[in-house]
Amino acid sequence: MKNKLTLIQKNSLESIQKCDSSADLEQIRIDVLGRKGELTTILRTLKDLSPEEKSEIGKLSNVVKTSINEAIDNRKDEIEREILQKRLSEEWIDVTLDGTPEFPSDNGFVHPLSQIQHEIEDIFTSMGFSVLDGPEVETEYYNFEALNIPKHHPARDMQDTFWTEDNNLLRTHTSAIQVRGMEKNSPPFRVIGPGRVFRYEATDASHENTFYQVEGMMIDKEISVANLIFFMKTLLKEIFKCDVKIRLRPGYFPFVEPGFELDINCLICGGSGCSVCKQTGWVELLPCGLVHPNVLKQGGINPDEWSGFAFGLGLNRLVMMGYGINDIRHFQSGDIRFVQQF
Ligand code: DAH
Repeated sequence: MKNKLTLIQKNSLESIQKCDSSADLEQIRIDVLGRKGELTTILRTLKDLSPEEKSEIGKLSNVVKTSINEAIDNRKDEIEREILQKRLSEEWIDVTLDGTPEFPSDNGFVHPLSQIQHEIEDIFTSMGFSVLDGPEVETEYYNFEALNIPKHHPARDMQDTFWTEDNNLLRTHTSAIQVRGMEKNSPPFRVIGPGRVFRYEATDASHENTFYQVEGMMIDKEISVANLIFFMKTLLKEIFKCDVKIRLRPGYFPFVEPGFELDINCLICGGSGCSVCKQTGWVELLPCGLVHPNVLKQGGINPDEWSGFAFGLGLNRLVMMGYGINDIRHFQSGDIRFVQQF
């Protein structure tokens, strides 16, 4: 009987050590110590033994029971600790890391208008131009008067704008930078002035109250339309990466004489006619001309000695043509899905 008990103890402790689930441990407890368990069944035969043997076996069986129960409890604790350790190592996260970005890149991106502005700045600086800045809130003098647009000139109607209470205005064009350029430099000089401009305008797909231009001005001896054409062709070739056919039509702007509208051969249809060029084969791109003598005088430059050309390039139009954007209002919409595409 004694041997049987120690054998049961030995076997049970061995299988408890090998066990790796709490449910299996409970099963061992039932199989050995339960009502119909191995140990319980043997102890039923205790009644056939002598009183000394009964007491000896009784004590031994208690020791065996306790050791099995303790072994089961200890192994259970061990298993639970192992499970916890496993979870801790598998489910570990570094809370100091950034969260998952909502967009593929959260570094930001350059707005398409800024991209084209930078490109144009590079092209012109490589041709000896310097880049000038000017204020967005301008005086009437810089925006109109110095540009040969006196107070009651009808050309002011074309450029209605927002006025401040102290009679300044949101500049209607970057041409105001021309005047500042003439004040800052003495001829010969070449400047461009990129910037944001404003008009009091009913908005639609091709009109906005806020848009972007790059102004250009070159003053030197004997500047002619040929010089103007050369620089404009070079600019367009660099931007569109191909030779672009151009034509000049007369255009009226009080600050140039003669003034032109420069058209380019439609890049979409190659000139055969499409909806972009309204079947004409040409797209109006860039107003320009030779600087009016009155403007030179206002800028302190002697028109008998110096002459120059100027141009004003609309950046929104350029980006719209390049990407096939059909509504100018997208630029200001603040819709992140729009800017993310560039
Ligand atoms: N400032 C004119 C506008 O916004 C554009 C312009 C026309 C600029 C002719 C020029 C120029 O420099 O020579 O409508």
